[in-house]
Amino acid sequence: MKLALKSISKTFYDSIPPLKVIDNFDLEVKGKERISIFGPNGCGKSTLFNIIAGFEQATEGTVLFDNGRKSRGQIKIGFIFQDHRNSILPWRTVLKNVELGLEFQEVDGNKRKKIAQHYLKKTGLLDFQNLYPYQLSGGMTQLIAFARTLAHQSDLLLFDEPFNSLDYKMYLNILDGLQSLWLKNRKTTILITHNLDEAIFWSERVIILSPRPSRIVGDVRIGFPSSRKRNLLHSQNFMRIRNQILKICSKNIR
Ligand SMILES: Nc1ncnc2c1ncn2[C@@H]1O[C@H](COP(=O)(O)OP(=O)(O)O)[C@@H](O)[C@H]1O
Ligand SMILES: [Mg+2]
Repeated sequence: MKLALKSISKTFYDSIPPLKVIDNFDLEVKGKERISIFGPNGCGKSTLFNIIAGFEQATEGTVLFDNGRKSRGQIKIGFIFQDHRNSILPWRTVLKNVELGLEFQEVDGNKRKKIAQHYLKKTGLLDFQNLYPYQLSGGMTQLIAFARTLAHQSDLLLFDEPFNSLDYKMYLNILDGLQSLWLKNRKTTILITHNLDEAIFWSERVIILSPRPSRIVGDVRIGFPSSRKRNLLHSQNFMRIRNQILKICSKNIR
């Protein structure tokens, strides 16, 4: 699915004085593309996701799905929230949390359970499926958010700093898992991250934002083959792109 942001601006008028967060974003994400968004704290990255998903209204501009052929209601958006804990329902078991999106899609009970258990297995949560969220660690609740988002087969995936609570081994597992999944179904994916190596390793393009009110100050094409191995991080080409991005960042930090 193709996504286009056309002249998007956002000001929070309920702040005193009004707070301009996003300043005239123009961005196209092709179908089957993964991009990363790299920008300082408070520059409006989560707000941008909220606008794309329809939780917030842009002050100006439009969001187009498939060149405007589809409305927001016609597409499925998978969202991992920055504060993922708030999206986990405490009165539901791990399994029932993962089944949630499938319930909305009215997938029947047995099939729902089977799909949910497939993703619970992939995220290492199968043995915990009958526990409640309060019985799990922060990292494990983040894995519930992954399993739930991946289980319901979205057209567009929005990942807002989704790895923050994971230990290093789990992080690598999930990153590799996401890559194989993306290679299989090539869903349009946007990742917000503060980890530059991850932004480059993961995506086809890295979008660099200035401090608030944020503008797009860089759109760097990565150009590595789609299937990537960890040793890429040590290559000359990787370092070259990393330095190019850091240069853009230092130019735009006041
Ligand atoms: N609903 C809101 N009302 C007023 N201000 C908000 C609201 N949501 C976010 N903000 C402000 O907008 C700025 C950008 O927030 P956010 O998008 O969460 O930044 P980021 O994700 O890049 O760290 C912050 O200063 C935040 O306080
Ligand atoms: Mg944020």
